[in-house]
Amino acid sequence: MKLTVVGGGSTYTPELIDGFARLRDTLPVEELVLVDPAAERLELVGGLARRIFAKQGHDGRIVTTSDLDAGVDGADAVLLQLRVGGQAAREQDETWPLECGCVGQETTGAGGLAKALRTVPVVLDIAERVRRTNPDAWIIDFTNPVGIVTRALLQAGHKAVGLCNVAIGFQRKFAGLLGVTPSDIHLDHVGLNHLTWETAVRLGGPEGEDALPELLTEHGDAIAGDLHLPRPLLDRLGVVPSYYLRYFYAHDEVVRELGTKPSRAAEVAEMERQLLTMYGDPALDEKPELLAKRGGAYYSEAAVDLAAGLLGGGGSPYQVVNTLNRGTLPFLPDDAVIEVQAAVGPKGPTPLAVPAVDPLYAGLMANVTAYEDLALTAALRGGRDRVFKALLAHPLVGQYAYAEGLTDRLIAHNREHLAWA
Ligand code: G6P
Ligand code: MN
Repeated sequence: MKLTVVGGGSTYTPELIDGFARLRDTLPVEELVLVDPAAERLELVGGLARRIFAKQGHDGRIVTTSDLDAGVDGADAVLLQLRVGGQAAREQDETWPLECGCVGQETTGAGGLAKALRTVPVVLDIAERVRRTNPDAWIIDFTNPVGIVTRALLQAGHKAVGLCNVAIGFQRKFAGLLGVTPSDIHLDHVGLNHLTWETAVRLGGPEGEDALPELLTEHGDAIAGDLHLPRPLLDRLGVVPSYYLRYFYAHDEVVRELGTKPSRAAEVAEMERQLLTMYGDPALDEKPELLAKRGGAYYSEAAVDLAAGLLGGGGSPYQVVNTLNRGTLPFLPDDAVIEVQAAVGPKGPTPLAVPAVDPLYAGLMANVTAYEDLALTAALRGGRDRVFKALLAHPLVGQYAYAEGLTDRLIAHNREHLAWA
């Protein structure tokens, strides 16, 4: 089996490699190609990747290249984990929205729209090249904003599935709190990427008993603490929102907080400097502790599971993925991309039936789906007016004066990445 990682020079890659090494029985990778335009960085990451494989006795070959077409040639699956404009562009996404009193975040709100506009054309170009060389390959997209990017890929007819680690993170967390193994936990997970709620925590499988009431009673403080949301809110909802819902449920509080500290991008950029220095040390042969301070925990395990499922080699029977709605959530259009549990096999993901969704969540999902639709149109066709409309539709923006101010800033800060601007 051959896998290709586009954005393979990311400092996240050792997380992925560690997963490929540990889980080689689930996903027997013979050749792993890391593709990245940043040649120097790629060599540092590639060197460590080879040492991790060697230490763990994995005899798979690791190839590094800056040539995308050569890198994807013959691949069974291609993982996309790139960041157009790097942490510098992310830093912008996280700061200029604050000038308008709006949240600055890389996937949520105006910053997320900026990221979508920069990213969609690049990802579509890559996918087109994958299809030309290799029409049967699966594309696994971890590139944010995953919902919009996956929708772009599927709309263009690509064989793609979107992936995020929020669900697997909750699964691991809840398993620890309940003292069971993670594979015993089946989450009823519903929503859009970075806009999800855990509505049940089932033991043993999709039909299992729901342990969520017990979890909230016994461990509500710990769960609320992790999410930085008040415990009484969780008790009233009776479900567990992802931490991205804090940008909605506590928007103004987050804006005030963000104004008082360095951006996450600045923190991550500093961590990346340290990580790259470590990766250059020939004595290092495992993923360093520092990597755990990044948000990508368990990403590798989710990716192994998904690739194994899609390539017919096993993996968990049900996995949380981003895929077409097609009636799963009847209040959303069929071509919306949703994030839910699905049966995963070589034909792709098939969403499991989802019980009726409370209007409290359905309303926000519908609103953000409409925003994502307009955001994708803006990313594909460009133009100030389309950017403005996407922002006006976003529930965290809404007012025309905000949308105007954010549109001007978005374009000014991203001109070099926007062909039409
Ligand atoms: C989580 C999200 C990812 C996001 C990451 C950011 O893992 O699911 O979509 O990219 O957090 O982590 P970072 O360490 O870059 O802030
Ligand atoms: Mn994510």
